[in-house]
Amino acid sequence: MCGIVGYIGNRKTEEILLDGLKELEYRGYDSAGIALLDNEKIDVFKALGKLKNLKEKVNTYHDYNIGIGHTRWATHGKPTELNAHPHLGEYSYVVHNGIIENYKEIKESLQEQGHKFVSQTDTEVIVHLFESFNNESNDAKEAFQRTIEKLEGAFSILLISKCDPSKIFFFKHGSPLIVARGNEEGEVLFASSDAPLIGLANDVVYLEDGVGGVASATSIEFFSDNYSWSTLPTSKQYAQKDGFRFFMEKEIYEQHDVVTDAMLGRLGENEITFDEFDASIIEGIEEIKICACGTSYHAGLTASYLFERLSQTRCSVEIASEFRYKEPLLSDKTLFIVISQSGETADTLEALKMATKAGLKSIALCNVDNSSMTRVANHTVLTRAGIEKGVASTKAFSTQTVVLWMMALYFGQYKQVLSNEKINDELHALREVPKSLIVDDKIHEKTKRLSKRYLHGHGFFFIGRDVFFPLALEGALKLKEISYLHAEGYPAGEMKHGPIALADPELFTIALMPQNLLYDKIKSNVEELSARDSTICSISPLDFELSDDFIKTQKTNHYMLEFFEMLVALQLLSMEISVRLGNDVDMPRNLAKSVTVE
Ligand code: M6R
Repeated sequence: MCGIVGYIGNRKTEEILLDGLKELEYRGYDSAGIALLDNEKIDVFKALGKLKNLKEKVNTYHDYNIGIGHTRWATHGKPTELNAHPHLGEYSYVVHNGIIENYKEIKESLQEQGHKFVSQTDTEVIVHLFESFNNESNDAKEAFQRTIEKLEGAFSILLISKCDPSKIFFFKHGSPLIVARGNEEGEVLFASSDAPLIGLANDVVYLEDGVGGVASATSIEFFSDNYSWSTLPTSKQYAQKDGFRFFMEKEIYEQHDVVTDAMLGRLGENEITFDEFDASIIEGIEEIKICACGTSYHAGLTASYLFERLSQTRCSVEIASEFRYKEPLLSDKTLFIVISQSGETADTLEALKMATKAGLKSIALCNVDNSSMTRVANHTVLTRAGIEKGVASTKAFSTQTVVLWMMALYFGQYKQVLSNEKINDELHALREVPKSLIVDDKIHEKTKRLSKRYLHGHGFFFIGRDVFFPLALEGALKLKEISYLHAEGYPAGEMKHGPIALADPELFTIALMPQNLLYDKIKSNVEELSARDSTICSISPLDFELSDDFIKTQKTNHYMLEFFEMLVALQLLSMEISVRLGNDVDMPRNLAKSVTVE
């Protein structure tokens, strides 16, 4: 949520910043801006909307050697050019990722001192506060440190100032920030994630919370000892579209491969193994608690069925933003698992910190290595999905689900609660997962045709039972976020307790009807809806005569294989509806890929 970059060096500063922001654009695209500085002057360029608008504006005929940039997902203040970062005081600029919770009181006190504010953002207070301290002491470093002490909330900051024009001041608290030594002499770079740095730098510091400093072309000074250098991966895995129309489409098609990677070295001939943690972690554990947001939460809900079924361990799942403030009773007999593609989602990260502080054993299931959650949890398990750029999460979900399924089996093996035959059946099914994720051309064509019929109406219900209920939630979320149509995921058996009142031909029901799990039950639920004239699109390997539309999946012998095949169908359907509506599939309105504010 918001991306920041910074550069000190002799290459074309504006190009480095704009290229870096391109890599971070998925984090927010309400506006973008850069500030460029040398000994003589500061220039700033800002534009509303996507980065290409900023690129069109940036025309410099000057060799700058310092710059900072920002791509915004609006939190305080509407997406306007005035609210776009970098924010200016009289002689300094700041970019910020996070939320300053106490900005109102700081702003009021600065206004009393005569400071004039032009934006509605929380960020603007940072630069005024800095200048107010700097005007007092004429010591930029001290002024920056005093500024940080005053701020509350989450903030990763880069600040440049004409009062000390060869330096970038930096600080990380809550939101991610990386400092890097560039490959060329006298270069320092900053970014919210490592993608903008790959190819430009090898040595990086993933800043811990509470760590800041000041960098110039010749030195990087940290304000505390709590940092260490590590090496950036060199493989430049920039996700390109590879001929697909959208990153989302590419990522749907990649699921077969990345799920294979997720199983490598974990799915053995006769058993599951994880190098990252030992199954004995489950010893003495009475409950597994999963915490996550959005799509990752849906993976967690799916896993709760699998953990109870396969490892006979009680499992509860919580939405991280709810968990944080409910004053949860935490017991050290609970294994705490967080699930997050980015590893940076603010609510999930805070929930993890609460759990580890309370002494719970923790596992972070993340896609991004070195992300904040991986540094807080006792154990990290990577999902190996590769960079996911589409804001609508696809391959992150399939890899999370398959890894969680393997974990459930791993614990089941350890606890000896499963027969050998059952273990073999599960292992066999797991080996078939990649196949079930291969996109079937016929299904893709079908979703393109169906997309025409589902552009009106007063809403969608996605219904399913058991693990197909979280899958229904996921199908509805995909449709909502990229098509902007109202959709709800619902447990099929619950429809008659209220929502069925909505049924009429303009209510579209997407029914997940697996052959291998509760088929007769869901069939009755769909019949009830059909009897009340809802338009039914069923997804099933079995023909269902009451369907108005039908997506036919393969016959298999395990419900989880049906789960993955239906997942692909749902992802394609939402994408094709979004395309038909002319929406931006990869960067839907109002959203950001990584939600680093609560
Ligand atoms: O990075 P995380 O997995 O923690 O992100 C959680 C949600 O923000 C994310 O899954 C979101 O719901 C996606 N846009 C859904 O497609």
